[in-house]
Amino acid sequence: MRAWIARMTEDNIDQSAIEKAGEILKNGGLAAFPTETVYGLGGNALDAKASEKIYAAKGRPSDNPLIVHIADFDQIYDLCPAVPPQAKLLADAFWPGPLTMIVPKGDCIPDEVSCGLDTVGIRLPSHPMARALIRESGVPLAAPSANTSGRPSTTTAAHVMHDMDGKIAAVLDGGACGVGVESTVITLALERPRLLRPGGITLEQLRSVLGEVDVDRALYEKIGDDVKVSAPGMKYRHYAPKAPVTVVRGNPQDTAKYIAEHIGNSTGVLCFDEYREMFPTCVVECFGSQDDLGAQAREVFDRLRAFDDTSVTQIWAQCPSDEGLGLAVANRIKKAAGFSVIEV
Ligand code: TXA
Ligand code: MG
Repeated sequence: MRAWIARMTEDNIDQSAIEKAGEILKNGGLAAFPTETVYGLGGNALDAKASEKIYAAKGRPSDNPLIVHIADFDQIYDLCPAVPPQAKLLADAFWPGPLTMIVPKGDCIPDEVSCGLDTVGIRLPSHPMARALIRESGVPLAAPSANTSGRPSTTTAAHVMHDMDGKIAAVLDGGACGVGVESTVITLALERPRLLRPGGITLEQLRSVLGEVDVDRALYEKIGDDVKVSAPGMKYRHYAPKAPVTVVRGNPQDTAKYIAEHIGNSTGVLCFDEYREMFPTCVVECFGSQDDLGAQAREVFDRLRAFDDTSVTQIWAQCPSDEGLGLAVANRIKKAAGFSVIEV
């Protein structure tokens, strides 16, 4: 069945559409909705069957747990028996917003959501449509990014329809997502806080609140299938267009020059706006100015997806350095490349 779609804006929310989607969720169905990061594929987090439907719609490996979305901070006490003190500090600083905290899990969370772990990821999004939908459904919502597993995350309703039409009941269309990369994931369930996925809240911001924050090595290197990782999602091939991607890191002028010297037939180039003209014979997708990390984050998944409408057989990619939001953007591009990175 085709997904039912409702268009609205953050400032002009269609309450009857929220009610209709809330009804679908209450009855165990799935509805995609916008958040400030990416679109989420929502189902009732307390209903094991709804989670099974999420895994099926995404084609997601069943050992990769779902994060749970709440609309108000106090809902965390229903989901987590012992809320770590750092969670309150982080919530005061960054919630609602693009941050997921991994905390000890309460018994109400089905194993299908947590994949048998004794922890659960909780996120309080800032997007008004997301919060209205969570409130309307009356339950916390399990919501991974609304893409087919392995594909770039979805930042528009068109991306969601491309991957999910026929597999879910409804899509709330709130336009393009403001941040564009998924939430920062930090675990508070280890001895020291550890960054598992960089995102809209930067490592520098986390450290300004918590002091020391460790960084998981999966941010920087490919993790083998046999290795136990802190966030199971980190070991899977991710964000990948069909053609293989190679990242070239370094000063943008140098990386553009390197790429220009190495292009072949049917090459695609993902580059900063400033360098478009250097690759006249290639399929070029620009993802923002080299100085505008916000634009790069908003554009990166849409641009990676765009290569799949072309016949390129190889993609070269520029990539920002690791400061601030650059850590998240660079991580997504490196993951799209399966950590195939050349330093120049
Ligand atoms: O911005 C976001 O976080 C979006 C929007 C929709 O909220 N959601 C999202 O969910 O990106 P997902 O499932 O695509 O990514 C969640 C990540 C995965 O890498 C997963 O492995 C990790 O969080 N994760 C979930 N539960 C975990 C847990 N208990 N311990 C460690 N990692 C966990
Ligand atoms: Mg995802």
